[in-house]
Amino acid sequence: MNYETLLQPVVNFLHCRTPDAWISVARRPENLPLLLTDHLVCELKAALTATWLIRKYVADKPSGEAILAWLKPYEAFVYRELPDHDFLQAHKNLARNITSTNRFPWADDLVDKMMLLIKEELHHFYQVWEIMQQRGITYQKMTASRYAKSLMREVTTHEPVTLVDKLICGAYIEARSCERFAVLAPHLDADLEKFYLSLLRSEARHYQDYLTLAQNIADFDITERVQAIGEAEARLILGEDSELRFHSGCPVL
Ligand SMILES: [Fe+2]
Ligand SMILES: [Fe+2]
Repeated sequence: MNYETLLQPVVNFLHCRTPDAWISVARRPENLPLLLTDHLVCELKAALTATWLIRKYVADKPSGEAILAWLKPYEAFVYRELPDHDFLQAHKNLARNITSTNRFPWADDLVDKMMLLIKEELHHFYQVWEIMQQRGITYQKMTASRYAKSLMREVTTHEPVTLVDKLICGAYIEARSCERFAVLAPHLDADLEKFYLSLLRSEARHYQDYLTLAQNIADFDITERVQAIGEAEARLILGEDSELRFHSGCPVL
């Protein structure tokens, strides 16, 4: 696989590269348990965001409840530290069975793209959890990074721009994840490097899927919104941060 070709559109989309100041802290071996734990939670959050979009805009009530049920074992583990580790079983039960309320012409496209994303993010979650198990890293709850919350402040509060903005935020979060996996990979041991590079293809597609949905759903030119949210994203990445997280700014520890 040619990683540079894969990464090029992602880097062009983002307004800045990850600063060396982040890499120099993130690469320290003592920070690996923290990064893997945060990565694990980010995978679940990515799945939850897509779930929220399907439930809010497309699914009827029974379908919405079915998706929530899929996510339950993961949420119980991450947010309540309950010892349900049967993620593989939960994963097998994921099926496309969404009944749309058919309000929007783009409903099926959103369901198809977001369902694929949910499945892939939960698979990544399982992979990260497995790596943590192999390395004897016990999951412990930690505070979320300010990144996603701060980015969401850029979201316009009236529809249909709200949905479009949320999709653009999704595109930036996925693109940044992809870029961070690529910059961190060469500083990790061989197994982790291989794993992180293996994630690039799906994360690059996730960013494109979010952006395509935003373009298709909007009945206006989204260039300005993409620009504004991209600038806000870059400010968070280039600014100082009090803690190291996967999507943090430059850690001042
Ligand atoms: Fe992922
Ligand atoms: Fe993703």
